[in-house]
Amino acid sequence: DYERLPEMPDGVYTAPLRRPAHLAQDWLEPAQRRYTGDENAIWDELYHRQMEVLPGRACTAFLEGTERLDLGRGGVPDFERLSAELGALTGWSVVPVPMLIPDHVFFWHLANRRFPAGNFIRTRDTFDYIQEPDVFHDVFGHVPMLTDPVYADYMQAYGRAGWKAMRHNRLKALGALYWYTVEFGLVKEGDALRAYGAGILSGPREAVFAIEGQSPNRVMLNVDRVVRTDYVIDDLQPTYFVIESFDDLFRQTVGRDFDRLYQALGPGFTYANTAVIDVDDVLHHGTLEYHLRGGRG
Ligand code: PHE
Ligand code: FE
Repeated sequence: DYERLPEMPDGVYTAPLRRPAHLAQDWLEPAQRRYTGDENAIWDELYHRQMEVLPGRACTAFLEGTERLDLGRGGVPDFERLSAELGALTGWSVVPVPMLIPDHVFFWHLANRRFPAGNFIRTRDTFDYIQEPDVFHDVFGHVPMLTDPVYADYMQAYGRAGWKAMRHNRLKALGALYWYTVEFGLVKEGDALRAYGAGILSGPREAVFAIEGQSPNRVMLNVDRVVRTDYVIDDLQPTYFVIESFDDLFRQTVGRDFDRLYQALGPGFTYANTAVIDVDDVLHHGTLEYHLRGGRG
């Protein structure tokens, strides 16, 4: 029964996030924000800027998803309508949350096929980069992928897995998997590589860097390796991990019990995010010139 919000497991450390007084345990906003004309225009500009660079760089499932959900119809999408359309395809819905929500609440929504999306949009001052995920990152970056049935099942399973990782005190390890798949994953399409990670798809520069750049490493995804890999959240990635297909991703994660992996993991991370290690199946050994120059810019 995933519908009930589970109790927090004992002994699990979670960062203290203060819940706004008007919200219940589920952290859901009572309604979607009504966006102003200028805020809707910001969505449209962000949408069109991404659509200039994504053909040939975003995976087919993503590009088809944006069309099936008609994310370019103008303005911030209405969550009710979006949820009805997405629900008919894969049973997922999109629900508004005020800000980053605690891990256990996030996992619980995913396990119930609800994607929590920010109830605000960035301003023109933070047009290119904001630390907190807004409705553009959440809806444009993540939601189109949820039209793919295998990916949709992966995300639900990830929610259940998160709960288990908390009990094992291995949330950082599972978080690294999220980072290198859901946020920054690449997928093979024939001989080409394409992005399916929301952090790549919703940002202005990373699609070109991730797909064509000489700087980053591109390595085939290996779960045992990835869960031991550090990650940085505020700059382009030095290393991207590549899956053969969404079935491949599903087999490697949902199709495997992580219990022994969690037990085998020591505390902390083993590999730097710039490292290429001996077990890696390397598609491109990056020059790392971007990061050697100091990054950010
Ligand atoms: N099957 C895994 C477990 O036993 C975890 C997992 C599922 C991880 C889906 C990621 C996505 O915990
Ligand atoms: Fe995200």
